[in-house]
Amino acid sequence: MPAKALSGRLKAPGDKSVSHRALILGALAHGETRITGLLESEDVLNTAKAMAALGAGVERTGAGAWTVLGTSGRLATPDAPLDFGNSGTGVRLVMGAVAGSGVAAEFVGDESLSSRPMRRVTDPLDAMGALFETSDGRLPARLSPSKLHGIDYTPPVASAQVKSAILLAGLSADGETCVHEPQITRDHTETMLAAFGASIDVRRDGPASTIRLTGPQTLTACNVDVPGDPSSSAFAIVAALVTPGSEVTLTGVMDNPARTGLIETLREMGAGLTVEPGPDMAGERTMTVTARASTLRGIEVPAERAPAMIDEYPILAVAAAFAEGTTFMPGLAELRAKESDRLEGTAALLRASGVDVETGEDSLTVHGAGPGGVKGGGRTITHHDHRLAMSGLVLGLASREGASVDDVAMIATSYPDFFAHMAGLGVQLEPA
Ligand code: S3P
Repeated sequence: MPAKALSGRLKAPGDKSVSHRALILGALAHGETRITGLLESEDVLNTAKAMAALGAGVERTGAGAWTVLGTSGRLATPDAPLDFGNSGTGVRLVMGAVAGSGVAAEFVGDESLSSRPMRRVTDPLDAMGALFETSDGRLPARLSPSKLHGIDYTPPVASAQVKSAILLAGLSADGETCVHEPQITRDHTETMLAAFGASIDVRRDGPASTIRLTGPQTLTACNVDVPGDPSSSAFAIVAALVTPGSEVTLTGVMDNPARTGLIETLREMGAGLTVEPGPDMAGERTMTVTARASTLRGIEVPAERAPAMIDEYPILAVAAAFAEGTTFMPGLAELRAKESDRLEGTAALLRASGVDVETGEDSLTVHGAGPGGVKGGGRTITHHDHRLAMSGLVLGLASREGASVDDVAMIATSYPDFFAHMAGLGVQLEPA
């Protein structure tokens, strides 16, 4: 039996990307940064610990309220390896932030993070003069004290983490650092660097972006009120769309075109979504999103939209399973380099519950079973991947036989309030 309808109103959890950046920029800046609405997830807490180990005064003053007393760019040598747990964003951004500081540091992570590619960051940082040694391109990685110069770089993959690492390194490099993106990725680093007083030049040309900054530069502390995370909000939104009779509202969701590809896609699929503007937070627009149970139809999702919804494909594939017709998702090579091979993991979680799916080298095709048409009964193998776990649970909600996941512990890396929020919408999810 599908779950009963979801209903209610939620404040979206703090954005993970902005939370990491608030801690990192605060630690590099001169003065005290006050953060409110910080996402207190394991990934972000690991970044907080790393910045404290690098000499920042990092203190929690209340729920989601933190102060960071910055180092004015003079980082300390940590006396133990910096452990980033599951977080690619944490480790890659901090590698960039530390690269030109003149300190030595070691970077480690959990099993999933230790299997992910790091050369995409260490190659350009080494080209700037950084002395990184990796374990065959993976963690653990070691940085020896280095002095950097600027670089002119076009990342070979569309990655905000790579762009951000280079820009953060550029702050302590001599001369101009320039990053060209043929297809813009999330631009929070650029926006927040400007808010922290950096002199940075961002030029847009259609889908492309060129960012320039000249180092060395010292940031100035600034207060950050973290907007809500569109990627985490996606789970409640899709749960409401595919569960008959549902209506949920999420407030404070960041409304940034480099993050809202899922909303655009769901609308093209016929989703009943209402979007109203909310207040600006940390230089970002926010929105209130209301999602109503809808009959969705399959579509082809443009490949060039992938960077604007890169973390949302597993939950989009769940929506596609309940749609009428076929959804084709091309341009997904990067999904294979996430917390797990998310392309195969997503296909497997759908197949386990009777959904007809095909994978290509960089594409996913889901043949929708229509509203109420997904059998369910599958068990999601999560491979330490929080987004596969939450997607598997949402699929279970609306499928005929329900579904289970092999592990839910890692959901706390990005969305520690997931179970409480689903309960607040009237759905009790229980670890099986
Ligand atoms: C992030 C960038 C994306 C995204 C990740 C957060 C960021 O990774 O998947 O969850 O905060 O910069 P890539 O840059 O590897 O695409």
